[in-house]
Amino acid sequence: MRFDVITLFPEQFRILSAEGVVARALRRGVAELVTWNPRDFAADAQRTVDDRPYGGGPGMVMKVEPLRAAIDAAQAAATAAGCASRVAYLSPQGRRLTQVDMRRIAAEPGWVLLAGRYEGVDERLIEARVDEEWSIGDYVLSGGELAAMVVMDAVIRLLPGALGHADSAAQDSHGDGLLDCPHYTRPEVIDGQGVPAVLLSGDHAAIERWRRQQALGRTWARRPDLLRARGLSAEERALLDEFMRGRVGPDAEQAAEQAAEQEP
Ligand SMILES: C[S@@+](CC[C@H](N)C(=O)[O-])C[C@H]1O[C@@H](n2cnc3c(N)ncnc32)[C@H](O)[C@@H]1O
Repeated sequence: MRFDVITLFPEQFRILSAEGVVARALRRGVAELVTWNPRDFAADAQRTVDDRPYGGGPGMVMKVEPLRAAIDAAQAAATAAGCASRVAYLSPQGRRLTQVDMRRIAAEPGWVLLAGRYEGVDERLIEARVDEEWSIGDYVLSGGELAAMVVMDAVIRLLPGALGHADSAAQDSHGDGLLDCPHYTRPEVIDGQGVPAVLLSGDHAAIERWRRQQALGRTWARRPDLLRARGLSAEERALLDEFMRGRVGPDAEQAAEQAAEQEP
């Protein structure tokens, strides 16, 4: 899969190839990243990419022509490489992305990601050249670079060959609409706190069942909205009922009250 990123700050993307899962995936050719600086497509000697907003007001707006030329070049290069791509503009006004979106994005051969700066991009460029607008959350960043990197990280780790263990992504939170179960590692006891006995039992079926139940219970307690959206099989319902009966403490009471109001 290929990402072509239109950015005034291509250096920021070096971090992606420095270390970790994404860096390894880029090194192995699981994904490819190419950056395009709109300044290289500006027509004047000053390499101007922004201008004052019509109607006045603070800040600058990114101009159409350099962005359009950069998008054209990026799409032509992607098509030549066999990765025809559509254009996504990272924007706080876009669709708020979820893990389901990340899977859909990962299924495409390529994307041109447009990272805005200043007050954003001239609306006419968005109308003419942008296929989708994506937000990473209801807050405003100074630029689209971090948002583009967030999307790339979330998408690349879903690609075959990116993670060491192929099942890891499926077991993560949101993989099947649930939060992940709790995890523990050595030592077996720390500061008087032990590890749930089942995890030491060596009984793989019991461990699997416990993890499933914890994932259901945790989602019920923390994100009942996810359970409502997803629904439960009869087996999951039974596991969750058992989890709810077994829980004690103020956290459980609060979660039970909350869940009673919002039964999935
Ligand atoms: C300062 S913001 C511009 C905000 C714009 N004036 C608005 O209120 O919608 C500059 C750039 O950061 C990026 N950006 C900011 N917040 C974002 C978010 N939540 N998700 C994705 N991109 C974001 C966009 O590319 C945007 O063009």
